[in-house]
Amino acid sequence: MRDPKDRRLTRVAGPSALVLFGVTGDLAQKKLLPAIYDLMNRGLLPPSFALVGFGRRDWSDERFQQVVRESVEAHSRTPFREDVWHQLTTGIRFVQGAFDDGEAFRRLGETLAELDETRGTQGNHAFYLSIPPNAFETVCQQLADHDLAGRHTEHGWRRVVIEKPFGHDLDSARELNAIVERVFPADSVFRIDHYLGKETVQNILALRFANQMFEPLWNANFVDHVQITMAEDIGIGSRAGYYDGVGAARDVIQNHLLQLLALTAMEEPITFDAQQLRAEKAKVLAAVTLPEDISAGSALGQYEAGLQGGRAVSGFLQEKDIPPDSRTETFAALKLGIDTRRWAGVPFYLRAGKRLGRRVTEIAVVFKRAPNLLFQKNDHEEFGQNAIVLRIQPDEGMTIRFASKVPGTQMELRDVSMDFGYGQSFTESSPEAYERLILDVLLGEPPLFPRHEEVELSWKILDPFERHWAEHDVRPEPYAPGSWGPESAHELLARDGRAWRRP
Ligand code: BG6
Repeated sequence: MRDPKDRRLTRVAGPSALVLFGVTGDLAQKKLLPAIYDLMNRGLLPPSFALVGFGRRDWSDERFQQVVRESVEAHSRTPFREDVWHQLTTGIRFVQGAFDDGEAFRRLGETLAELDETRGTQGNHAFYLSIPPNAFETVCQQLADHDLAGRHTEHGWRRVVIEKPFGHDLDSARELNAIVERVFPADSVFRIDHYLGKETVQNILALRFANQMFEPLWNANFVDHVQITMAEDIGIGSRAGYYDGVGAARDVIQNHLLQLLALTAMEEPITFDAQQLRAEKAKVLAAVTLPEDISAGSALGQYEAGLQGGRAVSGFLQEKDIPPDSRTETFAALKLGIDTRRWAGVPFYLRAGKRLGRRVTEIAVVFKRAPNLLFQKNDHEEFGQNAIVLRIQPDEGMTIRFASKVPGTQMELRDVSMDFGYGQSFTESSPEAYERLILDVLLGEPPLFPRHEEVELSWKILDPFERHWAEHDVRPEPYAPGSWGPESAHELLARDGRAWRRP
C-alpha cells in the first residue's frame, strides 16, 4: 500500500470493476492479472475495485481467486503481501459461460449489479477483451443485448479495451472497428499498444520536447538516418496458432515500431492531451512514404535451427504446429521515408525479429558527419558519425555517441559513448506497461491509446509491402539463431552505404 508520507502527485483510479475476457490466456496470466495486483499494491486502485473473470471453465469464485493468486505470485513485479491480496480477493468473481451464451451474460449483468451494490463499484465497468478478434463481434453484441455496453450515463461509465491484432490489413481493421464502435462510442474504446505504456517510450516525448538541445538537431539538416530495432532472443514459443500467417511485420511493425516512428518523427503537439497527441502522430504516419522498389526496400527472414547462447534451438519450421512449408517471416526490415519539411530525404529503417543476438529495442538517430573532417586519415570509416540512441529496453536509458581524442601525443580520435541509465538515475523501478495502461483505462485517460485512424494509417503503410511479398511469392531468407537477421537485411542498408548498428 502507499506510504502515507509519500506526497508525490498520484493518479488513483475511482470505484470500478474490470471484466476480463480470456482469463486463461498467456497475456492475462503473465501480464494483466499481475499488473492489477501491482496497481493494488501501489495503492493506485481503490478499496472498492472489483475484478470479474469471464470464461468457459467450470470455476467457482474461489477457484478463480486461486488462479489469480498463482499468476500474481509467479509474475507480479512488486512483493506479494497478504493484506493487499486480501483486499483484492474480496472483490474477485467468476462468471462461467461461452461467448455466445446469453444466459451467462445475464449472470454477468447480475454480478456487476451485485458488485455495484455491495462493493460500491458505482456502475463503472471496463470490459477487457483479451480474446481472438474473431470473438469480438459476439462478445460486443452480447454486451449490447444485455445493456452492458454503451456510453457514460448517470449510472456510471462503460469502456472496452481491445488488444491487437487490430485486423490483418486495412479492410479487416475497418470491419473490426465497425463492430466495436457499433456498440461502444469511439471515446469509450481503448486500443492497447503496450509499447506506449513503457516508460522509455513516453520518455521520447520528454526528451524531445522538455529539452532545448536535441530538437534543433532533430531534422533532415543534421540527421542522416534513423534506425528502429526491436530484437528478441526468444522464438515463437507456443504461439504457432497466432503467429503462423501473421509474421513479424504484422505482429510488431504495424503497431509497436510504427508508433515508435511516429513519436520519434512527429511535430510538437500543442498539448499532451489525447486529441492533440494523436493528431500529431496521425499527421506524421500519413506522411510516410514507401520505397520505390519494395524488393530493394525490404527484407524478410525466418530463423533456422542452431545454437543460441550455447543451447540448441529449433528452427521456425520445426516449431510445434508450424507447417513445414510455412512462409511466415520471423524477421522483417523495411525502409520508409517521411515527406515533411523536417524529414524529407531521411530514411527510417525499421527491423524486428525473433531469435536474434539479444533482446533489445532501441531507436538510433544517426547524424551526418561533420562537413570537414580534419582527422579522417587517422580513423576507421564509421568514425565521426554521432548518434543519439534511445534505449527502450531492456537496459533502459539513452546513449550519445561522439568522437573524442585518445590520450597520447598524437591527434588520434575514437568514438566514445555517454550514457544515461534509468537504473542509475532513479531509485524507483519502472512499472510494467500494463500497469500504466490499465490504470489509464480506469481513469478514462486516452492519450496512450492509439486512435482508430492511426491503426488505419499504419495498415496503409504495411499493406503494400504485404501485397508485394505475396504477389511476388517472396520467401523469407533463413538466418541463424543468435545472428542479426538475414543477409538481405544487411544489404538493405549496404545499398545506401550504411550499416545497422550492433546494439
Ligand atoms: C507482442 C508481440 O506485441 O510484443 C510478441 O505479439 C512480442 O510477438 C511482444 O514477443 C514483445 O513485447 P515486449 O514488451 O517483451 O517487447
